[in-house]
Amino acid sequence: MFIHRRRGWEIAERDATPEAVVTGRRALLGGAAGALALGAAQPAAAQWNIFGRRPNMPALPPLAPLAALRSAKYEPGRAITTEPEATTYNNYYEFGQSKSVYDEAQALKVTPWTIEVAGMVAKPRKIGLDDLLKSVALEERVYRHRCVEAWAMTVPWIGFQLSELVKLAEPTSAARYVVFTTLADKATMPGLRQSWYPWPYTEGVTIEEAANELAFLSVGMYGKMIPPQNGAPIRLTMPWKYGFKSAKSIVKVTFTDKRPRTFWEELQDSEYGFWANVNPAVSHPRWSQAKERLLGTDEMVPTQIWNGYGEYVAGLYTNLKNERLFA
Ligand code: MTE
Repeated sequence: MFIHRRRGWEIAERDATPEAVVTGRRALLGGAAGALALGAAQPAAAQWNIFGRRPNMPALPPLAPLAALRSAKYEPGRAITTEPEATTYNNYYEFGQSKSVYDEAQALKVTPWTIEVAGMVAKPRKIGLDDLLKSVALEERVYRHRCVEAWAMTVPWIGFQLSELVKLAEPTSAARYVVFTTLADKATMPGLRQSWYPWPYTEGVTIEEAANELAFLSVGMYGKMIPPQNGAPIRLTMPWKYGFKSAKSIVKVTFTDKRPRTFWEELQDSEYGFWANVNPAVSHPRWSQAKERLLGTDEMVPTQIWNGYGEYVAGLYTNLKNERLFA
């Protein structure tokens, strides 16, 4: 995902500048100060060649098995992406801007893991992930995932509804938004040296979105614990929104009455807004959102409004006027 934050010395980027070219040019200019991220601007196939899986992929550490019953309700209507494809083509900027961050991400330390519940709640507190998992019901859901960069995958996630965490947190009646703050550990995350990004990575949703049955916190995928590169040990999964809303490696959940300004919005609000609902009819300022490329097969298929989940979520937005729901 490219963002372009223009500085006086920069010339305008063409729409389809590959990330490697952008970062390379910044390096030549003596620093990375103007470089930005999230880029699908180049044609999908070219992006795959530049950022795709390394030819001699190293064996990754095995993950502990995690079993949960698959919910039949969320039948995705397309084939599940293979596990190697979904776990070696990632966006995790804390570990770097390439799609091949899977081996860098193995440095992530996931035990012990604590989530802080803060802000407008009955009792601010810290919950150990193990304790949290004892109080929720795990299930498997196969969801479509649509990145704003126009690639897509279909994944069997294991986790629980975000609404269960909201219930445990006991937000006050004044709370309107839920903000997710993710790990920012300088010792293990080389991407944090890129100081022009507004670390830590944060995302936010409304209380109503958080209560929606589709909003999910994933702790596993493909019958195992979730691997570091996909957001271990716990990540948000919001299938009707562009993938950047699905914050990885969450360490804090804050309830607030103020709409948060989140990571990508802070970087480039003209391109990555608060709502970020999937809609093929509303182009990204620099590319079309009409189609998506399926990881694994590279097949191009039409994108669906709300990523095909309109029956569950369209009603959340009926009273919102003059909002950019689809950016
Ligand atoms: N969460 C964190 N902490 N850091 C990131 O860079 N990237 C986002 C989202 N969550 C990101 C993140 C983007 S842009 C996408 S598309 C999805 O994670 C990618 O999830 P995946 O790598 O599991 O496919």
